[in-house]
Amino acid sequence: MSATSVIGLQWGDEAKGKIVDLLTEEHDLVVRYQGGNNAGHTVVADGETYKLSLIPSGILHDSVISVIATGVVIHPQALLKEIDGIVARRGAVEGRLLISDRAHVIFPWHMLEEAALEKNRRDEAIGTTKRGIGTCYRDKAGRTHAIRVGDMYRSETFRSRIGEIVEFKNIVLKAINPDVEPLDADAIFEEYSEYARRLKPLVIDTTAYLHHALDEGKRLLFEGAQGSLLDLDHGTYPFVTSSNSSGCGVHSGSGVSERVIGRMLGVAKAYTTRVGGGPFPTELDDEIGQHIRDTGNEYGTVTGRPRRCGWFDGVATRYGARLSGVDGIVIALLDVLSDLDELKICEAYEIDGERTTDFPSHVDALAKVKPIYRTLPGWKTDITGVRKTEDLPAAARGYIDTLAEIIGSPVHIVSVGPDRLQTIFYNK
Ligand code: GDP
Ligand code: IMO
Ligand code: MG
Repeated sequence: MSATSVIGLQWGDEAKGKIVDLLTEEHDLVVRYQGGNNAGHTVVADGETYKLSLIPSGILHDSVISVIATGVVIHPQALLKEIDGIVARRGAVEGRLLISDRAHVIFPWHMLEEAALEKNRRDEAIGTTKRGIGTCYRDKAGRTHAIRVGDMYRSETFRSRIGEIVEFKNIVLKAINPDVEPLDADAIFEEYSEYARRLKPLVIDTTAYLHHALDEGKRLLFEGAQGSLLDLDHGTYPFVTSSNSSGCGVHSGSGVSERVIGRMLGVAKAYTTRVGGGPFPTELDDEIGQHIRDTGNEYGTVTGRPRRCGWFDGVATRYGARLSGVDGIVIALLDVLSDLDELKICEAYEIDGERTTDFPSHVDALAKVKPIYRTLPGWKTDITGVRKTEDLPAAARGYIDTLAEIIGSPVHIVSVGPDRLQTIFYNK
């Protein structure tokens, strides 16, 4: 039971990066196991800001090994750019960063196809990050048009696979968008062979590596991307990402049994945000929503899109927590609410005149729910310098305790600013 897992409980961007960085010291390895460069994890350490996308947030600790495991989808160009950025600021990554040979690779056709599908969709757009994540996972499940990292080192078959896939994708792309330039298999093969060459020193069988690490008693920290409500199977489908981004994905994405996880920590913002399409019952299209967006700097790390902001949705977050089986929660960005006179927490939904705390299984039903709010007083004091529970204003403690009661899990950590130091180990 030597592993910790950090999972987002809402629609992503809950401050997982900050919390992973904070907990890294107590661990030997940090593992990303799903998602890709749709993720944007911010870490502020020693006054410097790092925006990580594919590389685990543990990379900022020199003694820790960062692992990009099997369930991640890798855009090699994005990964190499990120590696170059880390090398320039923190030194070489060899020996500190490992990439699974089983992870799937994102190719130009994934991005082109996703853009065309989003454009042609007749219903509300999913509002993806346009990184080819969904189309890559779809091809992974379909198998015939998928290429894994390990396939790039088998040059004969790699070239013929690309040729076969490009032939098919050119037909599909032309059918969806007659103006599209056909893809050139030779050029893609050359480009990706160069990426593969550069990544080679980092590529291994990460599953075997993690099994050996566990045998040796190493402490693993799993870093979730996205959030529980974006989970492909359990989230607000189809307005989700294409992987299991709740706690359900740790096992399948890493190849490590969930039975080794001693602590499942769920991260939630003190309010709610969402980027992209889909229902959002507690969304605020008013000056309070704008105040939260401005104060919390709620603009996407990856795409720069303004995030949709709203009151804390206790029904949705409780569902996220139950999906992931959390035994403790982190409440982040509490300081963003400090100026508000009063705060609302959605404790139940009204559906067709009935009160429920169950999260609806269909987005059409979720779009119709009426949030039932509990109103609490604000604290109207700057809390960014607070480091101990007892120094928090009583109203802030009341707010945190109410969130814990509604989610049904104890609060372990409260975050009052982006910096590592702006952290309260709650009631400790
Ligand atoms: P992630 O995707 O879950 O890692 O979260 P993001 O990095 O996308 O978004 C969280 C944002 O909030 C980042 O800009 C963080 O630097 C910032 N942040 C983290 N914790 C706090 C906090 O407690 N207060 C404030 N004001 N900002 C925070
Ligand atoms: P982190 O790890 C917030 C959202 C997109 C879109 C939906 C599908 O930083 O919390 P995709 O490109 O994955 O097919 O887009 O999921 N989304 C995120 N929202 N944080 C993320 O990651 C996200 N990754 C994807 O905005 O609504
Ligand atoms: Mg993010």
